[in-house]
Amino acid sequence: MITRAIPRRALPLSRVYGLLEPGPVVLITTTVGGRPNVMAQSWHTMVDFDPPIIACVISDRNYSFGALRASKECVIGIPTLELAAQTVGCGNTSGRTVDKFARFHLTAVPASCVQAPLIAQCYANLECRMIDARLAVRYNLFILQVLKAWITPTKRRPRTIHHLGRGSFMVAGKTIRFASRMR
Ligand SMILES: Cc1cc2nc3c(=O)[nH]c(=O)nc-3n(C[C@H](O)[C@H](O)[C@H](O)COP(=O)(O)O)c2cc1C
Repeated sequence: MITRAIPRRALPLSRVYGLLEPGPVVLITTTVGGRPNVMAQSWHTMVDFDPPIIACVISDRNYSFGALRASKECVIGIPTLELAAQTVGCGNTSGRTVDKFARFHLTAVPASCVQAPLIAQCYANLECRMIDARLAVRYNLFILQVLKAWITPTKRRPRTIHHLGRGSFMVAGKTIRFASRMR
């Protein structure tokens, strides 16, 4: 049966991203000239399983864009609800003018494979090497390979935060299980 009676209204195209942003808001750290910085980031997606490859959009208006291009390394920290205010703070300020580790009381911990630091307060930290920046020229899209992944074993049900746009966030909730062929 074909019906045109589905209740609907047009969504402004500028708000489509809020429907699709799937993953958690993350904190991306970079280090240039010995100075660490951190930004909030939510436009990212998995590209491959193992080694894990991740695509990230980082606007060229951000200080982190140049830092990632220059250093070719970063850490993706995954914060949970407890760190929500600091995470958004890192998205509302720039490393050009602010030492965000000091301002938001984030603890930088040396990583094992990259110069950029881990964030002690994050539930997980992924040390990454930038392996392809060809699409950064046109789309600000960086391809990152995870070299080392760290997780906090004591945090059993991490409540990650997910950006819905315009200051709204969804908090990860209950887990449900179905037989699935997706690994
Ligand atoms: C929830 C949230 C998600 C964000 N996601 C992105 C993103 O995916 N890509 C991006 O370029 N900027 C994103 N931003 C904006 C940057 O975090 C922001 O411009 C920041 O000031 C950049 O810091 P920097 O200049 O120190 O690099 C996001 C901000 C917030 C609050």
